[in-house]
Amino acid sequence: MLDKINNLRKEVEEFAANSAEEVESFRIKYLSKKGILSGLFEDFKNVAHDDRKAVGGLLNNLKIALQDKLNTLKEQFESGHVSDTGNTDLTLPVNFMQPGSRHPLSLTRNKIVEIFSRIGFTVSEGPEIEDDWHNFTALNFPEEHPARDMQDTFFIEKHPDIALRTHTSSVQIRVMETEKPPIRKLFPGRVYRNETISSRAHCFFHQVEGLYISKDVSFADLRQVLFYFAKEMFGDDTQIRLRPSYFPFTEPSAEMDISCFLCGGKGCSFCKYSGWVEILGCGMVDPSVLENCNIDSKVYTGYAFGMGVERITNLKYRVKDIRMFSENDVRFLKQFQSVI
Ligand code: DAH
Repeated sequence: MLDKINNLRKEVEEFAANSAEEVESFRIKYLSKKGILSGLFEDFKNVAHDDRKAVGGLLNNLKIALQDKLNTLKEQFESGHVSDTGNTDLTLPVNFMQPGSRHPLSLTRNKIVEIFSRIGFTVSEGPEIEDDWHNFTALNFPEEHPARDMQDTFFIEKHPDIALRTHTSSVQIRVMETEKPPIRKLFPGRVYRNETISSRAHCFFHQVEGLYISKDVSFADLRQVLFYFAKEMFGDDTQIRLRPSYFPFTEPSAEMDISCFLCGGKGCSFCKYSGWVEILGCGMVDPSVLENCNIDSKVYTGYAFGMGVERITNLKYRVKDIRMFSENDVRFLKQFQSVI
């Protein structure tokens, strides 16, 4: 059987087709259900135990070679560059451009925006190169406050006041400085942190920030809006849980978990057997942040939340390595074509 496979391998490598029909005959002869390859796999069942490893390996290689050959032949005749007579025909039209598809992160961002737009949120954007005031100080991160260490920031050497924004919370300040309440807005965008790049962290990623400022806004409003979002994003059965946390610009602050949609909250390796997965930070806007933007904190209250787009995309599509989002490998990106 080894000889037979080796001979076939040679035969396949040397094969050339002159027409699309010949390519089809090739496929039928070798790769169809009753073709030569199927026959060999049938024979494989009778191979002696000791020879199985060697024969199996060769057989699998032959299968791959056949598939590759077929793809190459098909491309030749489908691309229009080779006429049926086998000669290159430069007058034939070129292939049409492959239709593109949305990037998975855009799909997630658009979905988040769409869900919140149904309840009155509109979108604003701010600059990625930010000053200290908008990224830190106005958000209650005082000079030398240890909270600043939470953010490993890219500062600009010659201009210590300028940095790449570390979060989209900076846009809250820009909007509150220029607009009057009620404010009900989302701020999507790219943010930067000085992280060592790995499968789980990158020096840039994306966030969507939400802000609602009006009279009599309460924590219950925040909870209800986030519950609505979680159900729309992850499915009707989703439960949420708010855990007390700390952010300098919100008081009280919380982190929100959703019930693990893989195990339904029972506990599995994905949720590290806790039944919950963390998806965002949130809280009531600290009165001093309102005052920093000249909004009267005795009249107005509000909530804010911020979520990572990569994180939510990973949860939804189970992408294991965050670097894949920026490698631009079409084999990865193509897989999202059907979810436009
Ligand atoms: N800016 C925070 C971060 O990057 C996320 C965040 C937490 C945003 C709480 C908020 C909030 O608006 O209220 O980690």
